[in-house]
Amino acid sequence: GAAQTLAGRRVVITAGPTHEPIDPVRYIANRSSGKQGYALAEAARDAGADVVLISGPVNLAPPPGIRLVCVETAREMAEAVETALPCDIFIAAAAVADWRTRTDAAQKIKKGGDGPPVLTMVENPDILASVARRVANRPPVVVGFAAETETVIAHARAKLAKKGCDLIVANDVGEGSEVMGGSDNAVVLVSPEGEQAWPRLPKDEVARRLIAHIAQMRPVGESH
Ligand code: C5P
Repeated sequence: GAAQTLAGRRVVITAGPTHEPIDPVRYIANRSSGKQGYALAEAARDAGADVVLISGPVNLAPPPGIRLVCVETAREMAEAVETALPCDIFIAAAAVADWRTRTDAAQKIKKGGDGPPVLTMVENPDILASVARRVANRPPVVVGFAAETETVIAHARAKLAKKGCDLIVANDVGEGSEVMGGSDNAVVLVSPEGEQAWPRLPKDEVARRLIAHIAQMRPVGESH
């Protein structure tokens, strides 16, 4: 089996999309399959960690040996993360919806003479940024993802600063990349130390390598 590099460590991972309701039958979502987040959870488990996987709606089987918390919306995900802290490593792999509708209609919105509805959007909580900026219980290692369609590294570096995390795993989800929903991923690791581009690999191999990399990361401010 895998080297037990995370034995006794508590790892919290978010995965999958979130669904933001419009009315009882409709929602806003995105193309995340949850595969990369689930693969990370399994790799962390295989490295000996105690894993909490907080998942939006996906078509994946619950991985054995992992505590799975199923949520739908960004606000539910934020609350589940809060409940799962403290931890040693937090990995935000979920594709959280950036916005939700201001109101969630109690009844199905009907077609009618007024034409299509206008949906007013409000911003969702930024789960990664709020975990990374915590004063109490800030996990020693906080990792985020950046799905970009252009200028991947520059955007990832800006995101590292904006979110306050220790590592951004950037991937190009642009047209032709087949990353979203696909089984391969090509990532670039962006941290204060520099950049590391990895070759295109199956998502479970990316997960194993990422967990090995994260296991040897030192908490901010620790010199040895
Ligand atoms: O800002 P953007 O969505 O591009 O950042 C992506 C990273 O931030 C991912 O790690 C994602 O899980 C996390 N995120 C989050 N909460 C949000 C939006 C993004 O945790 N509301």
